[in-house]
Amino acid sequence: MRKIHLGGVAGAVGLVIVAVGFRAPPVRAGAESEFDEQHESRVRQGLEIAPVPLNFKGKNRELVGLGSYLVNAIGGCNDCHTFPNWAPGHNPYIPGQQQQVNVAVYLAGGRTFATPIGTFVSRNITPDSAGRPAGLTLDGFRFVLTTGHDPDEPAYEFQVMPWPNFRLMTDHDIRAIYEYLRAIPSLPSNPPAP
Ligand code: HEC
Repeated sequence: MRKIHLGGVAGAVGLVIVAVGFRAPPVRAGAESEFDEQHESRVRQGLEIAPVPLNFKGKNRELVGLGSYLVNAIGGCNDCHTFPNWAPGHNPYIPGQQQQVNVAVYLAGGRTFATPIGTFVSRNITPDSAGRPAGLTLDGFRFVLTTGHDPDEPAYEFQVMPWPNFRLMTDHDIRAIYEYLRAIPSLPSNPPAP
């Protein structure tokens, strides 16, 4: 009897803890505004760190800023889609050099990746003459980032491109990246590097 009683108490205590646990992170006005502030600071930072002049005409400025933050500070798109990555004399890995992205070929592709199943070349993801990044509509772009497949040739699966990570992003973030890429200068595709 006593044992059962204790079990009951423990159960009750457990329930209380669970209930408190669920109630622990309340969505208060204060907490909300802190998130808003964080969001705004990412947008501001994104607009500041964009290495190229941006064309805001017909774009949503907030999405462009967030997209820049995701592309330039987090997504590492530059690592693979700009080749060479850094402006001459501005390679941050070389002591004494000041970091500066190679804007002359910013996101114009052309970096080659030799893998055991073949050699792949990063694509030009700047806007085409119609203003579409990599020549993709928003739906096509979303398709690439969420499935890893080529919307023009759905049987083809992109290699090297970290879509298994990118597809874990929210749709809002994917839209922001697309909006930012719409705002950057259009460049001819960089020829594949040897
Ligand atoms: C680790 C290297 C790497 C990173 C980082 C990377 N990509 Fe890629 N991406 C590639 C390669 C390589 C391809 C082409 C793969 C192939 O042909 O199989 C590609 C293809 C693409 C395509 C398809 C283009 C088309 O013509 O259909 C898009 C869009 C794209 N990347 C966008 C991005 C964006 C946006 C980011 C950053 C958020 C990014 N990539 C980061 C390597 C990368």
